[in-house]
Amino acid sequence: MSNQPAQSRASVLECGAARRFRTLTALANLLLLIPAIFAADRYETRATYDPDGINKFYMGRQIAHVVSGHPTVSWLERPGREEEEQTDKLLEALNLKNGDVAADIGAGTGYITWRMAKKVAPNGKVYAQELQQEMLDILGENMKKRGVTNVVHALGTITNPNLPTNSLDLIIMVDVYHEFSHPFEMTEGLVASLKNGGRLVFVEFKPNDPTVRIKPVHTMSEAQVKKEMSLFPLQHVQTVTNLPMQNIITFKKSPPQPK
Ligand SMILES: C[S@@+](CC[C@H](N)C(=O)[O-])C[C@H]1O[C@@H](n2cnc3c(N)ncnc32)[C@H](O)[C@@H]1O
Repeated sequence: MSNQPAQSRASVLECGAARRFRTLTALANLLLLIPAIFAADRYETRATYDPDGINKFYMGRQIAHVVSGHPTVSWLERPGREEEEQTDKLLEALNLKNGDVAADIGAGTGYITWRMAKKVAPNGKVYAQELQQEMLDILGENMKKRGVTNVVHALGTITNPNLPTNSLDLIIMVDVYHEFSHPFEMTEGLVASLKNGGRLVFVEFKPNDPTVRIKPVHTMSEAQVKKEMSLFPLQHVQTVTNLPMQNIITFKKSPPQPK
């Protein structure tokens, strides 16, 4: 009896603390939800869509399915690809030099990787970055066969390329970016991994060209790439249009200048 008032004071204090805790928890949950709300806004689905895509649209463009399996591996390594795509011209346009640190995103079987690795050797290296471990395994075998030793494997996720930050001179994506299921998040990660002044290079099949027999969702216009990159601290440097099937669209990382 005698300590009842003390007890009720304690329970009032406890109630107040519990209320404050509940309010703070609700607020924290709301804050956690904010990125998800914006992310949901970033992407949309539509009633009608091209079945070659995943019915996920980003800045007006439908995202393509990720290609995989044996038919893809054979297609990436097809005899005649070099002539068809004029790969030597692409490598020339990259202007890589000994000592450069580069990344080949969505490297596949390593068709571009080993060519880049030779250009940056002996002091440079190339990160072969992929979403599919199966591709990295094949790529590893291909590098072994060619005696290429300056290639580092990097397995990423759909939202994170998993590369070291502020460390790359050049990042290339050959027929890859249009397959990213989360292009915004991936680009954020890629830009973070570039050094200031480092280059981000898109090699995308030319759209609306009857000589380029590629499914429309696996093509991208220069204008669309520029639109999507306008959200990032990047400056367009040049677009090379003289390859037969693809455009090479290059940006430079240029952080906002302090005022
Ligand atoms: C058409 S292949 C191109 C392969 C290689 N770049 C070439 O030209 O030979 C596209 C590759 O992008 C990869 N890819 C798709 N989404 C990716 C992502 N979010 N992160 C890393 N790789 C991805 C796929 O696994 C696939 O191997």
